[in-house]
Amino acid sequence: MNKKVIVTGGAGYIGSHTVIELIHAGFEPIIIDDFRNSKPWIIDRIQEVSDAKVLFYEVDCQDKDAVETVFKAHPDAAGVIHFAAYKAVGESVDKPIAYYQNNVGSLCVILELMETYKIQHFVFSSSCTVYGEPKSPIVDELTPIQKATSPYGDTKITCEKITEFEQASKGTLKAILLRYFNPIGAHESAKLGELPQGIPNNLVPYITQTAKGIRKELTVFGSDYNTIDGTNVRDYIHVVDLAKAHVAALNYAINKSGSFCEPFNLGTGKGTSVLEIIQTFETVNNLKLNYKIGPRRAGDVEQIYANANKANKVLNWTCQYGIAEALEHAWNWEKTLN
Ligand code: UD1
Repeated sequence: MNKKVIVTGGAGYIGSHTVIELIHAGFEPIIIDDFRNSKPWIIDRIQEVSDAKVLFYEVDCQDKDAVETVFKAHPDAAGVIHFAAYKAVGESVDKPIAYYQNNVGSLCVILELMETYKIQHFVFSSSCTVYGEPKSPIVDELTPIQKATSPYGDTKITCEKITEFEQASKGTLKAILLRYFNPIGAHESAKLGELPQGIPNNLVPYITQTAKGIRKELTVFGSDYNTIDGTNVRDYIHVVDLAKAHVAALNYAINKSGSFCEPFNLGTGKGTSVLEIIQTFETVNNLKLNYKIGPRRAGDVEQIYANANKANKVLNWTCQYGIAEALEHAWNWEKTLN
């Protein structure tokens, strides 16, 4: 099997860490990214960390002709890992069309080209957001998908469905849908991490920017939830563990016979509250964070964490890092940024 893998969004937060792990595992990633949510120097960093030359194309995934030039140059690629997408829940409410055009449009371009070039192995970035507000906080892959509460969430559900229908219709795809819980942290080298544009929406980049003095204080969105300490509970997973799961998923798809479309939860299986994240951040990094308790954020799920037994068993993958290391790495990364 050829070791080339096309990675859309390969300069992004999860994409860049996955490219590193693909190289470690002997794959040859070919990055497609147009830097709308990253920076060209991330490519240099990937090469520095991996000590390898990485092939890279500055292309918008919605532009089929441009993406096709990449497929034409690498018709022998073993598979595609598709990260390229918008990911901000709040922004998606303001710009629904942009979210459907980009997230759903790009997926259609990729699946069409995979069919044309007879590339079978596909790994898609989905999200635990597909479970909505679940009846029980711990969800496995059989937990029902619920109606989305944001365009972002709906694009993930729609992309999963399109992939399932495409697989059923053509009978050639070997597709894996990876439902991420909350990715946090940065590369241990502090050379790669998250690059939020503007004010961060997500908890951990907001925390690191507050600790650095870029933001005045963190607001904890609600402390009156029915949880361990009243704040929301999530399953925070180190981005490097998440990245490694993509390699495991790709290998699983390559080694499994037949055509399929299978979902996997990627989480640690452990729930952590917002206050526990803050306290751990303060302890591991030996600093005090300026924060206050504020009102709930509209649309937040009370608590959700993964039953990741399927990924543990079938992909033979488990998380190696805990939240303490993730929060230490996130802070080390933040300190390197200007
Ligand atoms: C959500 C989705 C996730 C999606 C992500 C994209 C769910 C369960 N999760 O993550 O699938 O990929 O958006 O961005 O739908 N918080 C604060 N103060 C802040 C920021 C966050 O208290 O300034 C709290 C939130 O209320 C939440 C937790 O921190 O309880 C995590 O928030 P965030 O990092 O935004 O991720 P989710 O909303 O869980």
